[in-house]
Amino acid sequence: MTDAAAGGRRLLIRDLEQLATPSGSGAPLRGRDLGAVDVLDGAYVLCAGGRIESVGRMRDLQALAGEVEELDGRGFCAIPGLVDCHTHACFAGDRVEEFSLRAAGAGYEELHAAGGGILATVRATRAAGPEGLRAALGRHRDWMLRAGTTTFEAKSGYGLDRETELASLRAIRDAGGAPTFLGAHAVPPEADSTDEYLDWLLADVLPEAAELAEAADVFVERGAFDVAQARRYLGEARRLGLALRLHADQFTEAGGVELAIELGARSVDHLEATGDRGVRALGQSDVTAVLLPASALFLGRPMPPARQLVEAGAVVALATDFNPGSAFCESLPLVASLACTQMHLAPAETLAACTVNAAHVLARADRKGRLTPGYDADVVLIDAPDWRYLAYHLAGDVVAAVIEDGEAVWRR
Ligand code: NIG
Ligand code: FE
Repeated sequence: MTDAAAGGRRLLIRDLEQLATPSGSGAPLRGRDLGAVDVLDGAYVLCAGGRIESVGRMRDLQALAGEVEELDGRGFCAIPGLVDCHTHACFAGDRVEEFSLRAAGAGYEELHAAGGGILATVRATRAAGPEGLRAALGRHRDWMLRAGTTTFEAKSGYGLDRETELASLRAIRDAGGAPTFLGAHAVPPEADSTDEYLDWLLADVLPEAAELAEAADVFVERGAFDVAQARRYLGEARRLGLALRLHADQFTEAGGVELAIELGARSVDHLEATGDRGVRALGQSDVTAVLLPASALFLGRPMPPARQLVEAGAVVALATDFNPGSAFCESLPLVASLACTQMHLAPAETLAACTVNAAHVLARADRKGRLTPGYDADVVLIDAPDWRYLAYHLAGDVVAAVIEDGEAVWRR
């Protein structure tokens, strides 16, 4: 019996200019498959009970019995709800002062080393308290939704104390996000050394964090955590059942890519500094390369080697890295534009990279990231005659409506 027959509410999005969805049914998509997209002109999407019941051409739509709510899709294109698989949306305060200093020439790493940067957001996040933090995350989550993100991951990592780390993970979970434990983001000022902080983190925070989080992440970089420290942290996280993720090669090639491959991590993210050896290694591995071009743009860093990674056969996903310091940007459509204009991905490749492949990073590719019967009815309507405006309209206000679980949750 279908959901509709079982009485689930139905929504018909009709008369769409186009419907576009990554081809096939497998995940992740790599190589040539990354750029394969199914496009239907003059299309509809029928949602029932929170799932997609059918998609097709209007001319093939049969008369529907029973109650069906309708949404007029004229002038719009439908794509899958976007999946942001790397954000730091659970933060309080802002870093607009730091932004102004950077505009005048101050360096991002230099500000961090002087006790600002990430540590400035740690102070603001601790001070906000659990309720303040929930409110801030709710606000950020709303921004993401309006930009077309229906599924999001968010990391802790601005608490660096037991209470705030756990409060962050709870807030993310309660907001419907996929929580990632990033206790190894930076070393807080009260710790005497990085190793001492890690000992404490693994003994006193990780066991409870592992009950709340789906994955653990670590910032492998000079001035943050080295490979030996990251191996210890991730090994313990894996023992407690978490998927593994790494921030690596943002500024220097510090061994994070090799460690990600050695440990069979779910993803390795950033890669602005990754050279040919890292590209080749990722091409032969199943570790997803999560690229964050808004962060490279915001910090004036080189773009990650996206084209080379795709050509080498690597699994590539795109995400915002939304955070107050290195990427104050919640828009996956802007990320898609940067991917095409700065990293030479095709619009079709960017679509797969921020839908099905991003869902793969979050272990949700069996129900998120495609407009296919049986998948969750998460749909974004683009205000355009062609779905590729997603990337084409640079920082355009392209999202006209967002449907989540078969319900229009936002309309312009
Ligand atoms: O992914 N590089 C480490 N962490 C974040 C930035 C965090 C911040 O600046 O607040 C990133 O870029
Ligand atoms: Fe990040």
